[in-house]
Amino acid sequence: MNILFIGDVVGKPGREALRQNLSNLQDQHKADLTIVNGENAAHGKGLTKKLYHQFLEWGADVVTLGNHAWDKKEIFDFIDDAEYLVRPANYPEGTPGEGLRFVKKKQKTVAIINLMGRVFMNPLDDPFQVIDSLIDQAKSKTNLIFVDFHAEATSEKQAMGWYLDGKVSTIVGTHTHIQTSDERILTNGTGYITDVGMTGAYDSILGMEKESIIRKFKTGLPAKFEVPETEKTVLSGISVSIDDQTGKTNNIKRILINADHINFN
Ligand SMILES: [Fe+2]
Repeated sequence: MNILFIGDVVGKPGREALRQNLSNLQDQHKADLTIVNGENAAHGKGLTKKLYHQFLEWGADVVTLGNHAWDKKEIFDFIDDAEYLVRPANYPEGTPGEGLRFVKKKQKTVAIINLMGRVFMNPLDDPFQVIDSLIDQAKSKTNLIFVDFHAEATSEKQAMGWYLDGKVSTIVGTHTHIQTSDERILTNGTGYITDVGMTGAYDSILGMEKESIIRKFKTGLPAKFEVPETEKTVLSGISVSIDDQTGKTNNIKRILINADHINFN
């Protein structure tokens, strides 16, 4: 099972980069399943129903979320019916949507889990406890398990990676929007990267317009962050090849496409 994962798509530049590159990347990496993190898709914060469906039309099979999941209020109207949308699993009981979804590809079932960290983030249920019961649920149907761990701290992401080594097929970090170059297969066969990075405006700060963020750092005053209008983009992703029988990752490859890394995919 080959899985292609595209990191946090930020606003219009991110959506354009996704639209332009996705089908080529799917061919190139022989992707059987494509997952896109869409929590920043709508103007940098949240996801609309229209954009969710657009991602599916462009070739995504599953869309994952994160701390910005709820920023566009319409999410509450469609998340329960969106069977290919996964929100962080460690929100309290009764939160709309699902943190674990099953998708069938190549006659195989794949479990996709979205989870959020707690270090330097808003308090949520303990992801280390929540993941145990999610893995039990997933394992009752499949040993192909993919986790998007949306977290800020590299330490928390490494800890989750090692905690899940041998229990899931692949765990990728998202949220920081900066790609790390530590992709590897852990000792017991779990594919891992601390952060996949983002898909959006290249000359930006984490996908948002530079000037207002610099101003905020210089003045300490609140500022409104906007997604810049630009055609100069970056696309960040990861491609993994998973053994259908064992559920272990055989191969992991980092994808980075921008003006300085045109061939790195
Ligand atoms: Fe995030």
